[in-house]
Amino acid sequence: MLNNPKLFVAFDFNDLNNAKEFSKKLDPQQCGIKVGKELFTCGGPAIVEWFQSKGFKIFLDLKFHDIPNTVKRACHAASKLGVWMLNVHAMGGNEMLIAAKEGVDQSNENPYLIAVTILTSMNDVNLNEIGINHSVDEEILKLALNVATHNLDGIVCSAGDLKNIKPYLPKDFIYVTPGIRPIVDLNNDQKRTITPEDAVKEGSSILVVGRPITASQNPALALEEIINKIR
Ligand code: C5P
Repeated sequence: MLNNPKLFVAFDFNDLNNAKEFSKKLDPQQCGIKVGKELFTCGGPAIVEWFQSKGFKIFLDLKFHDIPNTVKRACHAASKLGVWMLNVHAMGGNEMLIAAKEGVDQSNENPYLIAVTILTSMNDVNLNEIGINHSVDEEILKLALNVATHNLDGIVCSAGDLKNIKPYLPKDFIYVTPGIRPIVDLNNDQKRTITPEDAVKEGSSILVVGRPITASQNPALALEEIINKIR
């Protein structure tokens, strides 16, 4: 079994049977499964446990963002599920990051805890709309430094952001990068996309890939092609 999946497939499904059937097309030796808000709301812990029973490592992508005590308890509960990695929003602030880490550390499991910096669907204009007048680049570095200072394991960010931030962050920091498109596609909601091979060149540790695999006519082949590019 893989100790360190290099790729998690984003299972953004709203139907449990479809999600289970789809997983049968994938090999747990080649990828982990990212369970996000949509699938977890439909299937809860049972769907996570079902994938785990088939050998998949789970990245529980619920992006907790709440008052520190609530996030601590949510992170504790997620850790007890035996997931491989879970996450919070760095925008929740330093007290919340400290609480999240405590929640994980107080479980017997030892999942990786990472934090989302700025969603890859957002650009400078979108930040400005919510009253943040820094650039995406400046904001990501600020948030990533907070995450490292509070001993979380890494961040979620766009691979294109890495060159600006990696020099300032710990050597063993984990960089999880969504927004992967095997072919450059300007017509999509991800505003900062990158090819798998460029993501790895930029220093990504783990790729998150959704629709390029889940919407493919041949998911196993789509996965294989991406794996070959990042090997
Ligand atoms: O289909 P696609 O490859 O765009 O899926 C990307 C996945 O990564 C989605 O599940 C999305 O929620 C997630 N994600 C993201 N940007 C982040 C964090 C997570 O796109 N910053």
